[in-house]
Amino acid sequence: MNKIIDGIKVSSDIKSEIKKEISSFKKDGKRVPSLSIVLVGNHTASSIYVNAKVRACKDVGIDVNLINLNDNISELDLLEIISELNNKSDLDGFIVQLPLPPQVNVQNVIDSISPAKDVDGFTNDNIGSITSEVKKLLPATGLGVMTLIERYNIDIESKSCAILGSSRNVGAAIAQMLMQKEQVTVTVCNSKTKNLKEITRNSDIIISAVGKPNLVTSDMVKEGAVIIDVGISRIRDDSKKSGYRIVGDVDYDNVLPKVSLITPVPGGVGPMTIASLIQNTLRAYRNNEKR
Ligand code: GUN
Repeated sequence: MNKIIDGIKVSSDIKSEIKKEISSFKKDGKRVPSLSIVLVGNHTASSIYVNAKVRACKDVGIDVNLINLNDNISELDLLEIISELNNKSDLDGFIVQLPLPPQVNVQNVIDSISPAKDVDGFTNDNIGSITSEVKKLLPATGLGVMTLIERYNIDIESKSCAILGSSRNVGAAIAQMLMQKEQVTVTVCNSKTKNLKEITRNSDIIISAVGKPNLVTSDMVKEGAVIIDVGISRIRDDSKKSGYRIVGDVDYDNVLPKVSLITPVPGGVGPMTIASLIQNTLRAYRNNEKR
């Protein structure tokens, strides 16, 4: 049995479904969904992610616009640009790619984004909706992880799940999404957690969202576990033309023999975050059309 969860395939299936929907809008003479992506500076990794997002949006027929801003932009000027995007009625959604330069307070930026256009699902209103009856625009990475769990029919009933990393937008959001299912027992770990190995060894599912290569080693993994690796780090690799390669949090080669299912990095959760961004953009478009 194939143990590798193919995030590229699932994301490509979702994109094909959405592409069909968007072409039907066009046939009906309707406008297509629109998205702006704000990129501050030219952080190499961010530029790569943003280019992948732009390409994916174009592929499905979303009208995508990249806004490149100078690295030395003031917080006030950035908030002004966000306010303009919030007020643009024909714009369905936008994201501000993170990280941001040190002179800009990230939370102030997130708090200034209109929840209706927050297709990353980072605002308090959208994160809070995870625990409410009516879900809004859910955090894109968490949504991607949940989609993989659903499309691979991963059995979560009465299972134990360790989440490594408790960041608001990712680890904690995934924990809440899973808890909403009322089926799985979730343990959220952080850098202060004692006996991490004991927790992970007793977990049926491990979701790691830390950004630390080789954090999860084979001695930490139970035989037959499911592993979802949300980490993305660049490590030096002189054998590559670029001089680096992308790895997750999991010591993949050594963990692989023990698991029942695992997401590779790259090609696991990463493409799913983009698929979720596209799903959220379509959702924001639908809501905008109703307004
Ligand atoms: N930086 C790394 N991942 C993300 C993401 O999903 N959204 C945004 N806005 N920035 C990121």
